[in-house]
Amino acid sequence: MSNTAPLTQRNSWKSLQRHYQELKGLHLRDLFAQDPQRGRTFSVEAVGIYLDYSKNRITQQTLKHLLELAEESNLRDSIEAMFRGDPINITENRAVLHTALRSTPDACIEVSGKNVVPDVHAVLDRMSDFSDRVRSGAWTGHTGKPIVNVVNIGIGGSDLGPVMAYEALKSYSDRTRKFLFVSNVDGTDFAEAVQGLDPSETLFIVASKTFTTQETMTNAQTARDWLLKGMQAGPAAVAKHFVAVSTNAAKVSEFGIDTANMFGFWDWVGGRYSMDSAIGLSTMLAIGPANFREMLSGFRQIDEHFRNAPWDKNLPVIMALLGIWYNNFFGSSSVAVLPYDQYLKRFPAYLQQLTMESNGKRVTLSGNLVDYDTGSIYWGEPGTNGQHSFYQLIHQGTRLIPCDFIAFTNTLNPMGRHHDLLMANVFAQAEALAFGKTIQEVQSEGTAQWLAPHREFDGNRPSNMLMLDRLNPAALGKLVALYEHIVFTQGVIWNLGSFDQWGVELGKVLAQRIAPELQSKTVGELKHDSSTNALIERYRSSRQRD
Ligand code: F6P
Repeated sequence: MSNTAPLTQRNSWKSLQRHYQELKGLHLRDLFAQDPQRGRTFSVEAVGIYLDYSKNRITQQTLKHLLELAEESNLRDSIEAMFRGDPINITENRAVLHTALRSTPDACIEVSGKNVVPDVHAVLDRMSDFSDRVRSGAWTGHTGKPIVNVVNIGIGGSDLGPVMAYEALKSYSDRTRKFLFVSNVDGTDFAEAVQGLDPSETLFIVASKTFTTQETMTNAQTARDWLLKGMQAGPAAVAKHFVAVSTNAAKVSEFGIDTANMFGFWDWVGGRYSMDSAIGLSTMLAIGPANFREMLSGFRQIDEHFRNAPWDKNLPVIMALLGIWYNNFFGSSSVAVLPYDQYLKRFPAYLQQLTMESNGKRVTLSGNLVDYDTGSIYWGEPGTNGQHSFYQLIHQGTRLIPCDFIAFTNTLNPMGRHHDLLMANVFAQAEALAFGKTIQEVQSEGTAQWLAPHREFDGNRPSNMLMLDRLNPAALGKLVALYEHIVFTQGVIWNLGSFDQWGVELGKVLAQRIAPELQSKTVGELKHDSSTNALIERYRSSRQRD
């Protein structure tokens, strides 16, 4: 799959390096002046997403070289290998098949000779049945009361997807129920989530792929104690108030949850790619099975588009290549994702795990150190709030921060002129970033000479504009799948193992070692560095452990 030349040796890479030297001085003002149709030339529409990428510092030539880079990186073969179920997660020897989670029932996708699609749909059917029972009140708690509170306990991919999707699709959710999310091992997270809840009306979903994650297991144990104490009930009550989502049946039953109340998924679903697996059970409980399936159809439409559309019409490929252009040639280290929809307030946080846990790597698939930058830092806040906070730096700071704006033609909450103003702002921001305001323009307004430089906007700051009709379950599925495939494409070009996350291990191991050193009554000689030893000692003595 990767029998290509090392990245920086590829012809297209070298062409891009030369091309960058020619293009870096060009201003978007000039590029727009040269082509009055530029807004149309560099835009593409597919599966209900309009991408205007004209405000990027590119020409047709840039695009040509970038598309050659995709070709030279064997992107087509890599996509097929993923969709086919090849074990492309080589460090864990696993297939990477989140795309199978949204396949139609008649598809056949094999892992080790077994078609996984029937299992995917069997779990979806069980989730639907369970959701219907909870939503209709047929599923009751231990004392016969219907469930009115659903608390998802999970972290990372077992939390960020569910909480993001719940917030994004709140408008479609069952408003008679509360949905809460506990992730942090900080007890405050749990304490605040269950504040005021009646345990006899509360269902906990313990969501953990491995069912060994320290934070989740600690919170799940606390939830169990809280429930049994609050209900003054014995362990028999657990069955009606706890369900599990996991790949690890043995650990689920060890915890005391009946595996009849477990919804499974598979090791070929990465945690950060799992919101459309059973990890999405809280989403389904909130929005109902039909809406959940709509969301899956959105994912699937982008999957098919990614797999079949030519590169120059391919949304994830174009966006991935533009990301590489800025990351590797302009030296940009971050990407701001700026959704102009309040419901997408957790989308940037969700994308942080998706992008940074996937491509935050410094060795290639063959274990060699890279000699180029990899994963960008993703961050963002919903518009217009960010405008009154960090946009200053994006407009006038010294760093080049490419922005992805996300906007919807229709709002789910039409109210007076709000939506027109929201859209006016998103269009204005992209325009201001690209074209700025020259010092001459500033001076012509009568601004004093000394003040003019402060009020000048140099512009030439790139952005993408993604426009969709309205935020519905399918649109959310499309947006998530779009970024999944951007991450994949960039990982292929950078030649990374995008589907493991060894970088999170060391901290976990050290925390396991330090925890007993904080908790035990007596502790021998501490064997960390002098800084860590002092911190541990200070904590112990202030908690009177010595
Ligand atoms: O922090 C690493 C990680 O493994 C993530 O990749 C994952 O999403 C998260 O922990 C939670 O893991 P689990 O679902 O197994 O509890």
